[in-house]
Amino acid sequence: MKNNNLVKQHKYYNNEFFAKWAKLYDLEKYILFPLRKKAARFLDLKPPKKIVDVATGTGAQAFEFAKIGHDVIGIDLSPEMLNQAKKKIKSNLKLKFLPADGIKLPFKNNSFDASTISLGLHDMPYEIGLLVLKEMKRVSKKGGLILIIDYNEPKKHFVARLTQPLILLYETSMYKPFINRGIETLLKEIDLKIYRETNFLGIFQILLLKN
Ligand SMILES: C[S@@+](CC[C@H](N)C(=O)[O-])C[C@H]1O[C@@H](n2cnc3c(N)ncnc32)[C@H](O)[C@@H]1O
Repeated sequence: MKNNNLVKQHKYYNNEFFAKWAKLYDLEKYILFPLRKKAARFLDLKPPKKIVDVATGTGAQAFEFAKIGHDVIGIDLSPEMLNQAKKKIKSNLKLKFLPADGIKLPFKNNSFDASTISLGLHDMPYEIGLLVLKEMKRVSKKGGLILIIDYNEPKKHFVARLTQPLILLYETSMYKPFINRGIETLLKEIDLKIYRETNFLGIFQILLLKN
């Protein structure tokens, strides 16, 4: 019951927020394109593989996986973010976008070689993030990969410590508890372990987990 209210509230605030920002959000590509490329390489899967990109937003990371030959489905809660993503689709890419909630993915167990989430978890309440990761685990094949890209934690890198006050100025109120808890807290609850880890400029962490 508590979770039902949280899910409704999260959906409402999330969709209000991203409806306002969807058109401007794509400007991130001018800054973050090297992060997208690094993360796609770090996934280290020989294409073509089946990937679901959860909380895909305007699809920046999903496009990067598709460009190297993967077969990608991006899902998101926000219709406006998905509209921006769909505008960029090219016929030579195996890429589609679907409206869906990450806490209830419309796919069977073990459907994907990898599931990914980039810059999504820090915008979710803890309980929602946990449900989303559980679903990513469920739809990924046994032995498949889960890739998480998000802000780095201040305890992991001095640049993350230096940039935290700046990030606090523009991020939602969920960023601070997310960063203070650390991603490992979430992963422990669902029995997932990091097996490879890197960062981008110290500001973002890129984590690879094996299902
Ligand atoms: C900061 S954007 C990140 C978008 C994209 N992954 C990227 O790397 O640029 C966060 C996205 O998470 C989506 N989101 C939040 N909660 C979600 C949920 N429960 N299920 C699916 N998408 C969700 C939002 O609608 C938004 O598009």
